[in-house]
Amino acid sequence: MKPVNVGICGLGTVGAGTFNVLQRNLDDIARRAGRPVRITHVGARRDNPACDLTGVKVSRDIFDVVKDPDVHIVVELIGGLTVAKDLVLAAIEQGKDVVTANKALIAEFGNEIFEAAEKNNVVVAYEASVAGGIPIIKAIREGLVANHISGVAGIINGTGNFILTEMRDKGRAFEDVLAETQALGYAEADPTFDVEGIDAAHKLTILASNAFGIPLQFDKVYTEGISGMTREDVQYADELGYRIKHLGIARRTSEGVELRVHPTLIPDKRLIANVDGVMNAVLVFGDAVGPTLYYGQGAGAEATASAVIADIVDIARDIDSPGLVPHLGFSVETQNLPVLHSDDITTAYYLRILVKDEVGQMAKIAETLGNNGINMEAIIQKEAPEDEVLVPLILLTQPVKEKAMNDAIAAIEALPSVTEKVIRIRVERLDS
Ligand code: HSE
Repeated sequence: MKPVNVGICGLGTVGAGTFNVLQRNLDDIARRAGRPVRITHVGARRDNPACDLTGVKVSRDIFDVVKDPDVHIVVELIGGLTVAKDLVLAAIEQGKDVVTANKALIAEFGNEIFEAAEKNNVVVAYEASVAGGIPIIKAIREGLVANHISGVAGIINGTGNFILTEMRDKGRAFEDVLAETQALGYAEADPTFDVEGIDAAHKLTILASNAFGIPLQFDKVYTEGISGMTREDVQYADELGYRIKHLGIARRTSEGVELRVHPTLIPDKRLIANVDGVMNAVLVFGDAVGPTLYYGQGAGAEATASAVIADIVDIARDIDSPGLVPHLGFSVETQNLPVLHSDDITTAYYLRILVKDEVGQMAKIAETLGNNGINMEAIIQKEAPEDEVLVPLILLTQPVKEKAMNDAIAAIEALPSVTEKVIRIRVERLDS
């Protein structure tokens, strides 16, 4: 069989991982693809000592890889937006198939990129952009194709999960753990993407489009990070039988689609509540199959390379008989399924309210919640820490529309006995 030639653009962590795994497993990959898959051209600003580039053409200008007539598949692993977008569009123009691990690129420019790819009869594959090595796009787009998917909930940022795990298990402070994830190479170049939820919002955008057949709509994701999480909240959640996880949630309701990323209390008996450290996990709810859970490494050189190479092999297998699945899994997208405004999202809540230790304060807060139609499920008064005059009240509520909760919190913060901002974390039972 005629070999397929691969050009890799970018030789950082994932580029080097892809190069090395492909070289190491060359024989198995060739037998699986039905033809040899060989890296013939690498574009990188500098060599990476982790890779032996003997016999491979190397260019300092990544666009030389795109222009190389011998390259069939361009693998974009440079990250970022502007140059990556130009590179991918140039490859499409040249009639080349593309593989990318770039979640920001797909979430923000995927609609335009897929349109160009379809016009030029090429494929842009992006399995590695969500949850690293977990084949979640393939699972949703192909394995679950029979199902009406009602929701997806995932721990899709390893850095954030590692920080929350270390805060809970070792009582470590936020900044200290973040510095460690940067040293381990898990955090994004700009770590605010991890801690403020942007990285997870990119990934959720891609998951939602594949689950529901809607266009990519990154700008409509309600996004909250973990930078406001404290050790107290992690500990109180624990005492109530919950874990705090940073979740990306896409849910189809009768009114529209909820797209949201935020810290979430989950009952500690759920499997996903026990996904710790840098690991990722994605729960998918299908009407036929029920809940399914996918778990694995969401980042790292070889875990991500595993997904990149899976895409390369998919394309290599299809070269003579094109018939790959549509880019977002649906041949006809649903354009008219609205994405809900955050005011209209329904969830239960954990609230921590610091209140002056005076008679009748708990009753006033309960009354304020009642006036906004909010049903309480549990309330605990904790002891005030030493030298503090404010007492923490911890509340769990029944599910309520966000607008009602915003109004209730504004009214509680206006009470003379409440002088600090109310801490709120959403609660999801994830049982159906
Ligand atoms: N910064 C990302 C994470 C890397 O921590 O999950 C993988 O996308």
